[in-house]
Amino acid sequence: MSSRSGSKQRNAPLAHNTVHAIVLIGFMGSGKTCVGLALSRALGWMFHDLDLHVEAQQRRTIADIFRDSGEPEFRRAEHEALSTLLKELSPDSPAVIALGGGAFVQPGVRKLLAQVEIPVIWLDAPADELWVRCAQQGADRPLAREQNQFRQLYEERRKHYTEAGIHIETTGKTIDQIAQEVVQRLRMNHVLKEK
Ligand code: S3P
Repeated sequence: MSSRSGSKQRNAPLAHNTVHAIVLIGFMGSGKTCVGLALSRALGWMFHDLDLHVEAQQRRTIADIFRDSGEPEFRRAEHEALSTLLKELSPDSPAVIALGGGAFVQPGVRKLLAQVEIPVIWLDAPADELWVRCAQQGADRPLAREQNQFRQLYEERRKHYTEAGIHIETTGKTIDQIAQEVVQRLRMNHVLKEK
């Protein structure tokens, strides 16, 4: 499968090798959590799933937040959880952070990440493949209940995802292959030191 390498570095400068965090973005089903875990193992870094931070801070599931308080409250909680997490990061404990699929679409979240200059990696796949992956995972995703809406949301969000510094196509690749590709791209961009 093709990888659209060579995309412009628009979110973070990626020009040094002292980063102590990287962020994975992408639509639902793009593999942010699985790849994030594999990456964190490969790098020996911590792993944070932002959705789990939101659920822990809110003491309820994402489906419950959407149902009882609506999407705006979920977005507020998501922003707060990321802001808290970014403040806790330290060079002594570098981290891979997986955002939920809608987080990077929020201007406030993009601003938070730009301020701390954390490299952003976009994991991508075609909408219909992402739909199948979500269905196979069986998780209760409030915004993945109807296929046409899912497709439409994907199209609306792509322009924001393209702001990521690194774009990786995931179709036809294993989790470990994608994680290795992320590492290679970070090395090419001098974000990680060569071994
Ligand atoms: C969402 C994606 C979910 C979760 C919430 C909203 C979205 O995360 O944050 O259900 O807006 O795309 P995943 O991308 O990990 O499924």
